[in-house]
Amino acid sequence: MTDSTVLVTGASRGIGAAVAETFGSAGWRVVLCSRSRSELEDVAAAVSDAGGTPVVKPLDVTDADEFYVSLLEAVDSALDVVIPAAATTTGPPGQQPLDEETHEGLRAVMDTNVYGVFAVIRESLQFMPEDGRVLVPSGSVAREPVEGMGAYGVSKAAVEGVARSFAADAKQTVGIVDPGLVATELTDQQGRDPQEVAELFRWAGTECAAPELNGAVVGLKKWKQATR
Ligand SMILES: NC(=O)c1ccc[n+]([C@@H]2O[C@H](COP(=O)([O-])OP(=O)(O)OC[C@H]3O[C@@H](n4cnc5c(N)ncnc54)[C@H](OP(=O)(O)O)[C@@H]3O)[C@@H](O)[C@H]2O)c1
Repeated sequence: MTDSTVLVTGASRGIGAAVAETFGSAGWRVVLCSRSRSELEDVAAAVSDAGGTPVVKPLDVTDADEFYVSLLEAVDSALDVVIPAAATTTGPPGQQPLDEETHEGLRAVMDTNVYGVFAVIRESLQFMPEDGRVLVPSGSVAREPVEGMGAYGVSKAAVEGVARSFAADAKQTVGIVDPGLVATELTDQQGRDPQEVAELFRWAGTECAAPELNGAVVGLKKWKQATR
Protein backbone atom coordinates (compact mmCIF):
# COMPACT_ATOMS: atom_id res chain seq x y z
CA MET A 1 0.00 0.00 0.00
CA THR A 2 1.09 3.60 -0.64
CA ASP A 3 -0.46 6.94 0.40
CA SER A 4 -0.44 8.01 -3.23
CA THR A 5 -3.47 8.92 -5.33
CA VAL A 6 -3.88 8.91 -9.10
CA LEU A 7 -6.90 10.34 -10.94
CA VAL A 8 -7.67 8.82 -14.35
CA THR A 9 -10.33 10.13 -16.72
CA GLY A 10 -11.43 7.78 -19.50
CA ALA A 11 -10.99 5.04 -16.91
CA SER A 12 -13.95 2.90 -17.98
CA ARG A 13 -12.12 1.07 -20.79
CA GLY A 14 -9.04 0.99 -23.02
CA ILE A 15 -5.81 2.62 -21.89
CA GLY A 16 -7.40 4.41 -18.92
CA ALA A 17 -8.77 1.17 -17.46
CA ALA A 18 -5.46 -0.69 -17.90
CA VAL A 19 -3.49 2.19 -16.38
CA ALA A 20 -5.89 2.37 -13.43
CA GLU A 21 -5.39 -1.34 -12.75
CA THR A 22 -1.60 -1.00 -12.97
CA PHE A 23 -1.51 1.83 -10.40
CA GLY A 24 -3.89 -0.29 -8.30
CA SER A 25 -1.45 -3.19 -8.38
CA ALA A 26 1.18 -0.82 -6.92
CA GLY A 27 -1.18 -0.11 -4.00
CA TRP A 28 -2.40 3.33 -5.11
CA ARG A 29 -5.73 4.97 -4.43
CA VAL A 30 -7.27 5.34 -7.90
CA VAL A 31 -10.00 7.89 -8.68
CA LEU A 32 -11.84 6.53 -11.73
CA CYS A 33 -13.74 8.96 -13.97
CA SER A 34 -15.80 8.55 -17.14
CA ARG A 35 -19.47 8.88 -18.00
CA SER A 36 -20.60 5.27 -17.50
CA ARG A 37 -20.94 4.21 -13.87
CA SER A 38 -21.43 0.48 -14.59
CA GLU A 39 -18.18 0.17 -16.59
CA LEU A 40 -16.32 2.14 -13.91
CA GLU A 41 -17.65 -0.29 -11.27
CA ASP A 42 -16.11 -3.20 -13.25
CA VAL A 43 -12.75 -1.39 -13.42
CA ALA A 44 -13.02 -0.57 -9.71
CA ALA A 45 -13.38 -4.29 -8.95
CA ALA A 46 -10.22 -5.00 -10.99
CA VAL A 47 -8.32 -2.20 -9.20
CA SER A 48 -9.42 -3.59 -5.87
CA ASP A 49 -8.47 -7.17 -6.82
CA ALA A 50 -5.05 -5.87 -7.89
CA GLY A 51 -4.47 -4.37 -4.42
CA GLY A 52 -5.50 -0.73 -4.96
CA THR A 53 -8.26 1.41 -3.48
CA PRO A 54 -10.75 2.55 -6.13
CA VAL A 55 -13.00 5.62 -5.96
CA VAL A 56 -15.70 5.71 -8.66
CA LYS A 57 -16.67 9.18 -9.95
CA PRO A 58 -18.91 9.15 -13.02
CA LEU A 59 -18.66 12.51 -14.82
CA ASP A 60 -18.46 14.18 -18.20
CA VAL A 61 -15.15 16.01 -18.72
CA THR A 62 -16.84 18.57 -20.96
CA ASP A 63 -18.58 19.95 -17.85
CA ALA A 64 -15.78 21.75 -15.99
CA ASP A 65 -18.03 22.74 -13.07
CA GLU A 66 -19.18 19.13 -12.56
CA PHE A 67 -15.56 18.01 -12.66
CA TYR A 68 -14.53 20.52 -9.98
CA VAL A 69 -17.41 19.53 -7.68
CA SER A 70 -16.49 15.85 -8.18
CA LEU A 71 -12.91 16.63 -7.21
CA LEU A 72 -14.08 18.29 -3.99
CA GLU A 73 -16.17 15.18 -3.19
CA ALA A 74 -13.62 12.55 -4.22
CA VAL A 75 -10.32 13.97 -3.12
CA ASP A 76 -9.55 13.96 0.59
CA SER A 77 -5.80 13.94 0.05
CA ALA A 78 -3.45 15.34 -2.58
CA LEU A 79 -3.58 14.10 -6.16
CA ASP A 80 -0.08 12.86 -6.97
CA VAL A 81 -0.68 11.90 -10.59
CA VAL A 82 -3.45 12.95 -13.00
CA ILE A 83 -4.03 11.18 -16.31
CA PRO A 84 -6.62 12.92 -18.51
CA ALA A 85 -7.27 9.98 -20.86
CA ALA A 86 -10.91 10.66 -21.81
CA ALA A 87 -11.14 11.10 -25.57
CA THR A 88 -13.47 10.63 -28.49
CA THR A 89 -13.49 10.66 -32.28
CA THR A 90 -16.04 10.99 -35.07
CA GLY A 91 -15.56 7.72 -36.91
CA PRO A 92 -13.30 4.76 -37.65
CA PRO A 93 -9.56 5.57 -37.75
CA GLY A 94 -8.35 6.56 -41.22
CA GLN A 95 -11.88 7.26 -42.43
CA GLN A 96 -12.40 10.81 -41.15
CA PRO A 97 -10.98 13.17 -43.80
CA LEU A 98 -10.95 16.71 -42.44
CA ASP A 99 -12.45 18.14 -45.63
CA GLU A 100 -15.55 16.00 -45.02
CA GLU A 101 -15.81 16.82 -41.30
CA THR A 102 -18.76 18.85 -40.05
CA HIS A 103 -18.37 21.91 -37.85
CA GLU A 104 -20.34 20.12 -35.14
CA GLY A 105 -18.13 17.01 -35.42
CA LEU A 106 -14.91 18.97 -34.99
CA ARG A 107 -16.37 20.98 -32.09
CA ALA A 108 -17.52 17.82 -30.29
CA VAL A 109 -14.09 16.19 -30.59
CA MET A 110 -12.31 19.38 -29.49
CA ASP A 111 -14.74 19.74 -26.58
CA THR A 112 -13.74 16.37 -25.08
CA ASN A 113 -10.16 15.94 -26.28
CA VAL A 114 -8.92 19.51 -25.80
CA TYR A 115 -11.24 21.62 -23.60
CA GLY A 116 -12.02 18.53 -21.46
CA VAL A 117 -8.31 17.90 -20.90
CA PHE A 118 -7.73 21.61 -20.22
CA ALA A 119 -10.51 21.58 -17.59
CA VAL A 120 -9.24 18.40 -15.92
CA ILE A 121 -5.68 19.74 -15.69
CA ARG A 122 -6.69 23.26 -14.64
CA GLU A 123 -8.97 22.09 -11.82
CA SER A 124 -6.72 19.21 -10.71
CA LEU A 125 -3.59 21.36 -10.31
CA GLN A 126 -5.24 22.99 -7.29
CA PHE A 127 -5.18 19.59 -5.55
CA MET A 128 -1.65 18.62 -6.57
CA PRO A 129 1.63 19.07 -4.69
CA GLU A 130 4.54 20.70 -6.53
CA ASP A 131 6.04 17.28 -7.24
CA GLY A 132 2.73 16.09 -8.75
CA ARG A 133 2.61 14.95 -12.36
CA VAL A 134 0.09 15.21 -15.18
CA LEU A 135 0.41 12.66 -17.99
CA VAL A 136 -1.46 13.57 -21.18
CA PRO A 137 -1.88 10.53 -23.48
CA SER A 138 -1.21 11.35 -27.11
CA GLY A 139 0.10 9.82 -30.30
CA SER A 140 2.34 10.55 -33.27
CA VAL A 141 -0.68 11.73 -35.29
CA ALA A 142 -0.42 14.94 -33.23
CA ARG A 143 2.97 15.65 -34.79
CA GLU A 144 2.81 13.81 -38.14
CA PRO A 145 -0.66 14.10 -39.69
CA VAL A 146 -2.03 10.88 -41.18
CA GLU A 147 -4.66 10.66 -43.93
CA GLY A 148 -8.18 10.24 -42.63
CA MET A 149 -7.38 11.03 -38.98
CA GLY A 150 -9.24 14.36 -39.34
CA ALA A 151 -10.73 15.88 -36.20
CA TYR A 152 -8.98 13.42 -33.91
CA GLY A 153 -5.55 14.38 -35.32
CA VAL A 154 -6.36 18.08 -34.96
CA SER A 155 -7.41 17.53 -31.35
CA LYS A 156 -4.26 15.64 -30.42
CA ALA A 157 -2.05 18.36 -31.95
CA ALA A 158 -3.99 20.95 -29.93
CA VAL A 159 -3.90 19.00 -26.68
CA GLU A 160 -0.14 18.62 -26.91
CA GLY A 161 -0.03 22.43 -27.06
CA VAL A 162 -2.22 22.55 -23.94
CA ALA A 163 0.18 20.18 -22.15
CA ARG A 164 3.27 22.17 -23.14
CA SER A 165 1.71 25.45 -22.05
CA PHE A 166 0.74 24.01 -18.66
CA ALA A 167 4.31 22.66 -18.40
CA ALA A 168 5.62 26.18 -18.93
CA ASP A 169 3.26 27.78 -16.41
CA ALA A 170 2.54 25.25 -13.65
CA LYS A 171 4.81 24.31 -10.76
CA GLN A 172 3.90 20.66 -11.28
CA THR A 173 5.33 18.45 -14.03
CA VAL A 174 3.10 18.17 -17.11
CA GLY A 175 4.17 15.77 -19.84
CA ILE A 176 2.86 13.86 -22.83
CA VAL A 177 2.89 10.06 -22.88
CA ASP A 178 2.83 8.34 -26.29
CA PRO A 179 2.02 4.62 -26.01
CA GLY A 180 2.05 3.90 -29.77
CA LEU A 181 -0.94 2.21 -31.39
CA VAL A 182 -3.09 0.50 -28.77
CA ALA A 183 -6.06 -1.83 -29.36
CA THR A 184 -9.08 0.07 -28.01
CA GLU A 185 -12.48 1.27 -29.18
CA LEU A 186 -10.76 4.41 -30.54
CA THR A 187 -8.56 2.36 -32.92
CA ASP A 188 -11.12 -0.30 -33.86
CA GLN A 189 -9.07 -2.69 -31.68
CA GLN A 190 -5.88 -2.35 -33.77
CA GLY A 191 -2.54 -2.29 -31.95
CA ARG A 192 -0.98 -3.50 -28.71
CA ASP A 193 -2.94 -4.80 -25.75
CA PRO A 194 -3.58 -1.84 -23.36
CA GLN A 195 -2.02 -3.87 -20.52
CA GLU A 196 1.30 -3.88 -22.43
CA VAL A 197 1.56 -0.08 -22.27
CA ALA A 198 -0.01 0.57 -18.87
CA GLU A 199 3.33 0.22 -17.08
CA LEU A 200 4.74 3.02 -19.30
CA PHE A 201 2.29 5.40 -17.61
CA ARG A 202 3.17 4.18 -14.10
CA TRP A 203 6.86 4.67 -14.92
CA ALA A 204 6.21 8.17 -16.31
CA GLY A 205 4.17 9.03 -13.21
CA THR A 206 6.74 7.84 -10.69
CA GLU A 207 10.21 7.06 -12.05
CA CYS A 208 10.94 9.12 -15.16
CA ALA A 209 13.05 12.16 -14.24
CA ALA A 210 10.72 15.17 -14.00
CA PRO A 211 12.82 17.44 -16.28
CA GLU A 212 12.73 14.76 -19.00
CA LEU A 213 8.94 14.61 -18.80
CA ASN A 214 7.99 18.27 -18.34
CA GLY A 215 6.72 19.72 -21.62
CA ALA A 216 8.11 16.70 -23.49
CA VAL A 217 6.85 13.50 -25.09
CA VAL A 218 7.92 10.23 -23.48
CA GLY A 219 7.15 6.98 -25.25
CA LEU A 220 7.88 3.29 -25.43
CA LYS A 221 11.49 3.74 -26.56
CA LYS A 222 12.51 6.02 -23.67
CA TRP A 223 10.67 3.80 -21.16
CA LYS A 224 12.31 0.62 -22.45
CA GLN A 225 15.77 2.23 -22.50
CA ALA A 226 15.30 3.48 -18.93
CA THR A 227 14.03 0.18 -17.54
CA ARG A 228 16.13 -2.28 -19.54
N1 LIG B 1 -5.55 3.79 -28.60
C1 LIG B 1 -4.43 4.33 -29.09
O1 LIG B 1 -3.78 3.78 -30.01
C2 LIG B 1 -3.92 5.61 -28.51
C3 LIG B 1 -2.63 6.02 -28.87
C4 LIG B 1 -2.11 7.21 -28.33
C5 LIG B 1 -2.88 7.95 -27.45
N2 LIG B 1 -4.17 7.54 -27.14
C6 LIG B 1 -4.92 8.37 -26.20
O2 LIG B 1 -5.15 7.60 -25.03
C7 LIG B 1 -6.35 8.06 -24.41
C8 LIG B 1 -7.29 6.89 -24.16
O3 LIG B 1 -7.68 6.38 -25.44
P1 LIG B 1 -8.26 4.89 -25.65
O4 LIG B 1 -7.69 4.44 -26.93
O5 LIG B 1 -8.09 4.09 -24.41
O6 LIG B 1 -9.80 5.23 -25.90
P2 LIG B 1 -11.16 4.44 -25.54
O7 LIG B 1 -10.91 3.00 -25.27
O8 LIG B 1 -12.14 4.80 -26.60
O9 LIG B 1 -11.60 5.11 -24.16
C9 LIG B 1 -12.02 6.44 -24.12
C10 LIG B 1 -12.44 6.73 -22.69
O10 LIG B 1 -12.85 8.09 -22.61
C11 LIG B 1 -14.10 8.16 -21.91
N3 LIG B 1 -14.79 9.35 -22.34
C12 LIG B 1 -15.10 9.72 -23.62
N4 LIG B 1 -15.76 10.89 -23.61
C13 LIG B 1 -15.83 11.29 -22.30
C14 LIG B 1 -16.38 12.42 -21.65
N5 LIG B 1 -16.99 13.42 -22.33
N6 LIG B 1 -16.30 12.50 -20.30
C15 LIG B 1 -15.68 11.52 -19.60
N7 LIG B 1 -15.15 10.42 -20.16
C16 LIG B 1 -15.24 10.31 -21.50
C17 LIG B 1 -14.79 6.84 -22.26
O11 LIG B 1 -15.71 6.45 -21.27
P3 LIG B 1 -17.29 6.77 -21.29
O12 LIG B 1 -17.78 6.50 -22.68
O13 LIG B 1 -17.82 5.85 -20.25
O14 LIG B 1 -17.42 8.21 -20.89
C18 LIG B 1 -13.60 5.88 -22.19
O15 LIG B 1 -13.35 5.51 -20.86
C19 LIG B 1 -6.92 9.14 -25.35
O16 LIG B 1 -6.45 10.41 -24.94
C20 LIG B 1 -6.29 8.79 -26.69
O17 LIG B 1 -6.23 9.90 -27.55
C21 LIG B 1 -4.69 6.40 -27.64
